Amino acid sequence: MKIAIVASEGAPYAKSGGLGDVMEALPSALSRIEGNEVVLILPYYKKIKDCPKYQVEQVCHFDVSLGWRNAYAGVMRLLNGRDKVQVYFIDSEYYFGARPGAIYGDIDDGERFAFFSRACLDALLALEYIPDVIQCNDWQTALVPTYLRAVYGQQFPNTKCMYTIHNIEYQGWANAGFFDDVLALPWEWRGCLDMNGSVNVMKAAIETADLVTTVSETYARELMYPYYAHGLDGVLSAASWKLTGITNGIDTDTFDPSRDPALPAHYDSSTLEVGKAQCKAALQEEVGLPVEPDVPLCVMVTRLAGHKGLDLLCYIARRLLWEEKVQLLILGTGEAHYEQFFKDLAREFPEKVAAKITFDLGLAARIYAGGDIYLMPSKSEPCGLSQMNAMRYGTVPVVHATGGLRDTVPPANERGEEGLGFTFQSYNGDDFMAALKRALALYNTDREAFRALQRRDMSQDFSWNKPAKRYMELFRQMLAQ
Ligand code: GLC
Repeated sequence: MKIAIVASEGAPYAKSGGLGDVMEALPSALSRIEGNEVVLILPYYKKIKDCPKYQVEQVCHFDVSLGWRNAYAGVMRLLNGRDKVQVYFIDSEYYFGARPGAIYGDIDDGERFAFFSRACLDALLALEYIPDVIQCNDWQTALVPTYLRAVYGQQFPNTKCMYTIHNIEYQGWANAGFFDDVLALPWEWRGCLDMNGSVNVMKAAIETADLVTTVSETYARELMYPYYAHGLDGVLSAASWKLTGITNGIDTDTFDPSRDPALPAHYDSSTLEVGKAQCKAALQEEVGLPVEPDVPLCVMVTRLAGHKGLDLLCYIARRLLWEEKVQLLILGTGEAHYEQFFKDLAREFPEKVAAKITFDLGLAARIYAGGDIYLMPSKSEPCGLSQMNAMRYGTVPVVHATGGLRDTVPPANERGEEGLGFTFQSYNGDDFMAALKRALALYNTDREAFRALQRRDMSQDFSWNKPAKRYMELFRQMLAQ
């Protein structure tokens, strides 16, 4: 099958979060399936352009039509990709190449990614690569199915389009003028793009894509409710016949405690006890906590953003630290008030708390390996990847049973039997505390059962093999429609 995947980020070239990880692993998993040819198209950000590691050649260029103007786009082919996926970058000095900052956050992000979405279709035409399926992701490439239907129908008569929602919070809102100024769509498409008098590109993608997916089964169901859908519950309910959840995997080659180069010691589930103890001691030392082998180390690697459930942790933190013999280690950056909270907490409890307010992939790996208990009380979580990383490294998750957390962490009972971690149902601090206390009690009173739970976590198949097969099934279903 000929597959084109378009996204605003993809590791290792450009990554701001989980989408970047998925856009590295999913194309690669699909390309390993016999008979598939996979192309991935990303923007040619300054960071990629400036990186000498990536060798590219320009294969073509053209003008992209945007409202009242045409904008130059070049197509760069990556010459030294890591696997069978053929990566192309869309080059535009104006929209990507000359922007020094982060990959998102510019005032004209809407226009930048409208340009990119349209340029991807022009690039496929210029490359004479007419795919069976285009898979696109989140608001940044949400215009792809709409352009495909509204403008490029004749050129891609048999191409089907899957739209995947990784996070519904960011929908690509713009004022109504955006439709004429930038989109250059036939006017009868105005209604499709309109939501309450503004433009909403995610809404249009949900309506125009052949199938809509999201990144876990539970999140797909949750999206029917206003609490989760950020205004799109009605649109999604109307499209529920074509909405499916496929739970992400993780890159089990990169995240592998038996050979991760970032770790001071390596282990698998049979050598967990010794290897993890070494990693834990080294980690405590590295972050400046007392080296205490028997004090449970609770860890969190996260963006410090509200929906990650940090309010709950702030609410229980002092009580937890007074009542329990624990250590708490946080790694991440984000909203200033959370950064301040954890810095203050570390100052107040220097023997118990370490806060590393930074972004550090190596330290993240050492935390997955050296921790005992992984905290992820997210208010909502489309899928979540780090709970799977943690389990792969034998760190027991304590999670709010929502979205992908619910699908990947079936609950263990108090004795640590069944299930993979400790969960709580209702989003409040006391229930979070109770779940965490169950985990701590098991660690403190029955280390053997805790170890058995860790081993069970480590032996799960979190690879992309199964999800990639599900994507293929849905691709085939679209082609049969
Ligand atoms: C977004 C979601 C996260 C998901 C990731 C990859 O970052 O917030 O839950 O795991 O996308 O799909």
